[in-house]
Amino acid sequence: MMHIEELDTPALIVDLDIMDRNLARVAEYTARHGLRLRPHTKTHKIPALARRQLELGAIGVTVAKVGEAEVMLESGSPDLLVAYPVIGQRKLDRLMAVAERTQVTVSLDSEVTARELSQAARTAGTTIGVLAEIDVGLGRVGVETGPRLSNLASEISRLPNLCFQGVAFYPGHIKSAGHADTALQALSDKLDSAVSELEQQGFEVSVVSGGSTPALFRSHLVRRMNEIRPGTYIFNDRNTWLSGACELSDCAASILATVVSTAVKGQAIIDAGSKTFSSDRCSQEDAQGFGYFPDAPDAELAKMNEEHGFVNVAAVVKGWRVGDRARIIPNHICVAVNLHERIYGVRGEHVEEIWEVKARGKLQ
Ligand SMILES: Cc1ncc(COP(=O)(O)O)c(C=O)c1O
Repeated sequence: MMHIEELDTPALIVDLDIMDRNLARVAEYTARHGLRLRPHTKTHKIPALARRQLELGAIGVTVAKVGEAEVMLESGSPDLLVAYPVIGQRKLDRLMAVAERTQVTVSLDSEVTARELSQAARTAGTTIGVLAEIDVGLGRVGVETGPRLSNLASEISRLPNLCFQGVAFYPGHIKSAGHADTALQALSDKLDSAVSELEQQGFEVSVVSGGSTPALFRSHLVRRMNEIRPGTYIFNDRNTWLSGACELSDCAASILATVVSTAVKGQAIIDAGSKTFSSDRCSQEDAQGFGYFPDAPDAELAKMNEEHGFVNVAAVVKGWRVGDRARIIPNHICVAVNLHERIYGVRGEHVEEIWEVKARGKLQ
């Protein structure tokens, strides 16, 4: 078995004990509260990891893009939720090919998207599950609740080869576990009235799908929500940690990098820049830098070029030398994974798994 020291850098490594614990904790939580779990695979992008989530009780998995759905067929998921409006004939044709192999569900927010999906499903002789997307505060996609939601639900229900299953939403405006309770209460009230209104109008709302990582373990407080789609929880990242939604010890993924220059005083250059981490800043506004060094908390990844990470080591007691290695927890793990060909699963000092990131770059 390969020792971690033998890995070339930069490398994205995942501590398998932590990942297993993260997966088990959410599986146990959702089972205890009777919540369906449909994890978003945008974080890991690896069919083998989706399979693990399914083995632990997930009812299906979520993707954003048709290309990701094609890759995730390999996970054997009994259902693929495309939580993104699918627009254009090319994508619809590919989605129908996916639907020949497993049940497909799509969340959408416009009558035109529903009509085109219905037409494609009719031509393909298949039925697609549909969730009406509602905006609960992020202002990204999703209709307002009230008459616009009712109209969308009626259109979906009326159209052939579509099966209205309920509603979907993404509470991406709730970023901090500490401030989540009032926001979750407002979300709970909004959903309660929206779902009750749809039911009074005669719609059967069997799925109420939401739930992201930051407020994951408070999902049971949102009354009508019966399904969650967290993605980041499998690895967690600096954003999740600083949001208060996990401990530092729950961050499973990090970048292993090598110091390649110490020519400038007070600074070390590592072989990992924006092409390794992405340029995502921390979502907590007062946090500086592009990552966190768990073994050297005083070091700061202050700046990046494509292949160079500028580490401010002025406050670090022990000197950094060329050839030293450092581990950095990225601000946002999902975008970092997308930049890597493979992920190394390590247990202790040993590399136990090497996964190809099969859905990386599947933007279409
Ligand atoms: C539609 C949708 N559902 C679920 C998620 C998963 O949320 P998180 O990354 O907080 O786990 C995302 C994340 O961007 C999303 O866009």
